[in-house]
Amino acid sequence: MKKIDIYEVGPRDGFQNIKEYIPLENKMKVIDGLVEAGVKHVQVTSFVSPKAIPQMKDAKELAATCLEKYPEADFFALVPNLRGAQAAKEVGMQWVSYVVSLSESHNQANIRRTHEASYEAFMQIRDAYPDLDMCLDLATTFGCPFEGKKTEADVLPFIKPYVDGGVKTVNLCDTIGIADPAQVRRIVNAVKNEYPTLDLQIHIHDTRNMGMVNTLAAIELGINKVQSTLGGLGGCPYAPGASGNLATEDLIYMLSEMGYNMGIDTSKMVDLAKFQKNLIPSGTFSGHLQKI
Ligand code: COA
Ligand code: ZN
Repeated sequence: MKKIDIYEVGPRDGFQNIKEYIPLENKMKVIDGLVEAGVKHVQVTSFVSPKAIPQMKDAKELAATCLEKYPEADFFALVPNLRGAQAAKEVGMQWVSYVVSLSESHNQANIRRTHEASYEAFMQIRDAYPDLDMCLDLATTFGCPFEGKKTEADVLPFIKPYVDGGVKTVNLCDTIGIADPAQVRRIVNAVKNEYPTLDLQIHIHDTRNMGMVNTLAAIELGINKVQSTLGGLGGCPYAPGASGNLATEDLIYMLSEMGYNMGIDTSKMVDLAKFQKNLIPSGTFSGHLQKI
């Protein structure tokens, strides 16, 4: 059986869009359910400024609770700077997603940094914590609300200094759900050809109902680490009305029908998606199975 590793990012990418604070014990109920359903890789939070994302103000406590409760699980967090990496290190995380946006204007809007400053912060983290693995989360890989669509000609040179600087994994993120399958094929093929030893992940938002086809396009080119969110929880501050990421339970339903093995119980995930919808009634959801 072909194996796919699901990287559930709902507790970060989904929860960060919810305005009202979700109490830590409710966040834990979702994370408990994910572990119980067989999900091994979970982005449980982000170590960012609580002024930028107030929802993540409990990041350290939540991460510490998760790591203590489930020492076998692979929990990771998003960080934008050295301070975030330090927090991740302090709670005992093995790896983090270091976020930088391919689009300079989106990088400014999201993390208030130039590309140069983001690269400097990456090098600071690498030098301060050489044993902390960093996955490069390349936001707006496929396009940006300010600069339009991106191509392999943008992606390849951008990631080179990071690869030279020691990055072994790059997560190609369709932050606003603007990709199409032909573009996914072009960019994934180009990155694989240029950087054959690089480990790739894919992270697609479902804004235009193309989350599934775009993710499948990447999987069919051999990407076997896929990010998604339970229930398709999410949104995007720069695309009003946009729904979230591809829904994890919909994705694993399709992949198991196709003969892939994720080691995750689909019906438990559907029940959990429904539970989460009741828990967070103000959320926006892109998933389908939770409706039936
Ligand atoms: N964790 C917690 N607090 C942090 C922090 C971190 N990683 N980094 C900075 N801060 C705090 C600073 O201490 C400072 O607090 P103070 O005002 O009480 O002194 C405040 O946040 C601003 O710090 P500064 O270094 O001036 O950053 P900034 O205002 O230029 O913002 C970021 C830069 C990166 C910290 C901020 O934009 C951010 O956290 N962005 C994340 C956005 C995000 O998560 N987007 C979605 C995910 S892709
Ligand atoms: Zn995202």
